[in-house]
Amino acid sequence: MIEFRNVSKVYPNGTKGLHHINLSIDKGEFVVIVGLSGAGKSTLLRSINRLHEITDGEIVIDGQSITTAKGKELRHIRRDIGMIFQSFNLVKRSSVLKNVLSGRVAYHSTLRTILGLFPKEDVQLAFDALDRVNILEKAYSRADELSGGQQQRVSIARALAQEAKIILADEPVASLDPLTTKQVMDDLKRINQELGITTVVNLHFIDLAREYATRIIGLRGGEVVFDGPVEEATDEKFAEIYGRSIQKDELLGATAE
Ligand SMILES: Nc1ncnc2c1ncn2[C@@H]1O[C@H](COP(=O)(O)OP(=O)(O)OP(=O)(O)O)[C@@H](O)[C@H]1O
Ligand SMILES: [Mg+2]
Repeated sequence: MIEFRNVSKVYPNGTKGLHHINLSIDKGEFVVIVGLSGAGKSTLLRSINRLHEITDGEIVIDGQSITTAKGKELRHIRRDIGMIFQSFNLVKRSSVLKNVLSGRVAYHSTLRTILGLFPKEDVQLAFDALDRVNILEKAYSRADELSGGQQQRVSIARALAQEAKIILADEPVASLDPLTTKQVMDDLKRINQELGITTVVNLHFIDLAREYATRIIGLRGGEVVFDGPVEEATDEKFAEIYGRSIQKDELLGATAE
């Protein structure tokens, strides 16, 4: 579903973001990417939908190169990829329903979406998506009236309405409390299992990574230093990924980054 072929990324200022990454992520996997701050997690995730351009190699999505795609082809590949951010990225003053419907924009002409003319089927898709993340009753609330956890569920619903085949989530729970964190991670996991959506999540905390991932990829200095099933991601392996022994409070997710 997602293939990295010898991918490197050097930022214009010379910083190495990614270094010779080779990865193959299958349909339906729930992959968690871990690593210290600056390890390259966001760079890796954002290069998947070309939010960041890579400087070398190629990324292939469902058999199509997103690296060389242009125009309509690129838009169609991107349509299959939903993105979830730490800061939710909602239009705060719009209703929840409108935010979720914005996931349909790539399927219609610009004029139609500017006028907010979404077909009935789209509205139904949006309601179904809200139902799946258990906030259907919030459909007509303003987005900024919702709690952080609820806002994150709106952004998950938006990806569902988009009918994304891949969900990329960059630190989706970093601004949430532990209980809300669990609800949002549970939503992502359930959607992954029920709909088979390939999910790649960046997480700071390794206890969460262990709890939810089927596969863990460890990055360090822009390189993959661990790639394996959760069972193999032992404390020793994590110490290697993090380049030092891990403090207990980090295991428990208590360190503010
Ligand atoms: N726009 C940019 N210009 C230059 N260097 C950048 C840019 N964005 C990131 N970097 C650098 O690239 C490297 C990887 O950054 P990245 O944001 O991918 O790390 P990360 O693992 O997501 O970190 P964090 O856990 O803090 O989010 C870091 O050294 C960072 O300073
Ligand atoms: Mg990051």
